[in-house]
Amino acid sequence: MLKIDKISKIFDKGSLNEKEIFKDFSLEVNEGDFVTIIGSNGAGKSSLFNAIFGTFIPDEGHIYLDGEEITDIPSHKRARNIGYLFQDPRSGTAPNMTIEENLFLAGGDGGWLSVNQKKKTGEFVEKLKLLDMDLEKNLKKPVGLLSGGQRQALSLLMATYSKPKLLLLDEHTAALDPKTAEKVLALTDKIVNGDKLTCLMITHSMEMALNYGNRLIMMNDGKIIYDAEGEEKKNQTIDGLLKLFRDKDGAMMASDRMLLG
Ligand SMILES: Nc1ncnc2c1ncn2[C@@H]1O[C@H](COP(=O)(O)OP(=O)(O)O)[C@@H](O)[C@H]1O
Ligand SMILES: [Mg+2]
Repeated sequence: MLKIDKISKIFDKGSLNEKEIFKDFSLEVNEGDFVTIIGSNGAGKSSLFNAIFGTFIPDEGHIYLDGEEITDIPSHKRARNIGYLFQDPRSGTAPNMTIEENLFLAGGDGGWLSVNQKKKTGEFVEKLKLLDMDLEKNLKKPVGLLSGGQRQALSLLMATYSKPKLLLLDEHTAALDPKTAEKVLALTDKIVNGDKLTCLMITHSMEMALNYGNRLIMMNDGKIIYDAEGEEKKNQTIDGLLKLFRDKDGAMMASDRMLLG
């Protein structure tokens, strides 16, 4: 489904800030996989997503999505097939537009006039009800007035509206209060499993990484240092993950912001 074949990337090559972020980095993800990704700050998790989304082009190596090589395809073209959610709830929606208008952007198949608007609005209401955040009662409300949790749930709905081939979630619940984060996560799980999406989810929480998905990847210094799926993942524990971390880099743990819960 997703194949990253030996990509390498050096940022600011030749300058004092030169930083090699990937060296022969490879990863294969199967269709329908829900992969959780953990790793210390600066491990390269977001950079991995940026490579997949085309925010930067690797110096070497190849990236394939659904059998098609996308290594050099600009990111605005990849956006049709890749849903992307960030930590900041403000990034996934247009604040001055209403909930309904935002949804038209995501699921309106080409604009206001070309579709049967009433039918579409009915579809939006049904979808919004699934979020259980009363958004269906506020279709005409500008998105900028919503809470962070409401907004992130709406972003999630929009990013998955047309069933992307791949869904990238970069700490998308990290800015929410714990209760709201839990709700958005449960919703994420429901959508990913219900629509059988292929999903990569970066999280700062080991517990979250263990509780969701069928495969878990741990990154450190631009490399995958642990990769477990199925039963092996199910049997993994926070203590086990901590030990893996400690074995890799003891000093890292002390300075790391990775949370236990
Ligand atoms: N566009 C860029 N230019 C230079 N350095 C970058 C760029 N993007 C990321 N980096 C560096 O790459 C490393 C990995 O960053 P990142 O992928 O954001 O880590 P993570 O998401 O795991 O915390 C960091 O040292 C960061 O400073
Ligand atoms: Mg990051």
